[in-house]
Amino acid sequence: MKTVLITGATRGIGLELCRIFALELDFKVYMGCRSLEKAKNAIIELGNSVNIIPIVVDVSQEESVKQAFEYYKQIKPKEEKLDILINNAGAQLDWIPNGEYIKTFDIDIELLDKIFRTNVFSHLIMTRTFISEMSEGGRVVNVTSGSGEFWDNNAIMDFQPGYAPSKSAAIMMTKKIAAAALPYKVYVNSCCPGWCRTAMGGDDAETSAYDGAKSILSACFINKKNPPSGYHYRYGKKIPIDVLPGVNITKYIPFSVRKYLRKILIPVYYKIIALKEKNQNIKQRKNKNAK
Ligand SMILES: NC(=O)c1ccc[n+]([C@@H]2O[C@H](COP(=O)([O-])OP(=O)(O)OC[C@H]3O[C@@H](n4cnc5c(N)ncnc54)[C@H](OP(=O)(O)O)[C@@H]3O)[C@@H](O)[C@H]2O)c1
Repeated sequence: MKTVLITGATRGIGLELCRIFALELDFKVYMGCRSLEKAKNAIIELGNSVNIIPIVVDVSQEESVKQAFEYYKQIKPKEEKLDILINNAGAQLDWIPNGEYIKTFDIDIELLDKIFRTNVFSHLIMTRTFISEMSEGGRVVNVTSGSGEFWDNNAIMDFQPGYAPSKSAAIMMTKKIAAAALPYKVYVNSCCPGWCRTAMGGDDAETSAYDGAKSILSACFINKKNPPSGYHYRYGKKIPIDVLPGVNITKYIPFSVRKYLRKILIPVYYKIIALKEKNQNIKQRKNKNAK
């Protein structure tokens, strides 16, 4: 049975990931949680699946991660290795959907530190702690965000001075972890789930937590034969972080206009890619038949 460990998994996108891995893909799921009580309720919500096992871990605290690792080694079968680690836990403590936000010059440095610990340092701490128990060919997906991409109109707004920069840093940290993980034959990428309707994303978000989970899922399985490492993805597509995906000329378009373009161009971009892939598949099938 394949195995996955998902942090921050008792609600939102993490909970959807647990549902998909345990109930649709038949994985053994280690559900990272801060509260065992919450995890037990979440497992009941998922129909009490015996394939979901809670592990208490506060990803921002190295000691807690170490304890979680020791616990994991105690409860897992001897031969079992971890196939996928999803560093999903995240905190957006400087902005509440439809509510209060903190301006850049007003952010408290302790709060900034907490955000970076949770969204960036945790990816390094979790991965370097668990990597010795990962299988060859294993995958790590660090959940980042479009708000960490430089082209996003978020970049010129005087708000989210913690969350957005932490997600940019997480994309770069992913590259560093990917380089360090290569000798273990573990492949590490970052992924944006899209703007999802969760406690963090709020009710006005564009997609469901399920769609967000699917975006992360696709990053877990990209190119099984020749896995990429150190890249940033959304909905299974590699995303450049400094220009609007797929449209290089957008770097010449003012940020204030990009937010309107984003809604139109991104779906068009993905449609073009899907068409290209479809044509490529048809060509490959024709070539096979010809042989
Ligand atoms: N929703 C969006 O629109 C959106 C967009 C882009 C990226 N993302 C990213 O997607 C991931 C999941 O977001 P979500 O929308 O599902 O958020 P969410 O509903 O707020 O859930 C966040 C999860 O992270 C956990 N968590 C927070 N701090 C933690 C810590 N120090 N240690 C361990 N767990 C911790 C929370 O645990 P508790 O239940 O114990 O609080 C919760 O389970 C995050 O990394 C987020 O930044 C979300």
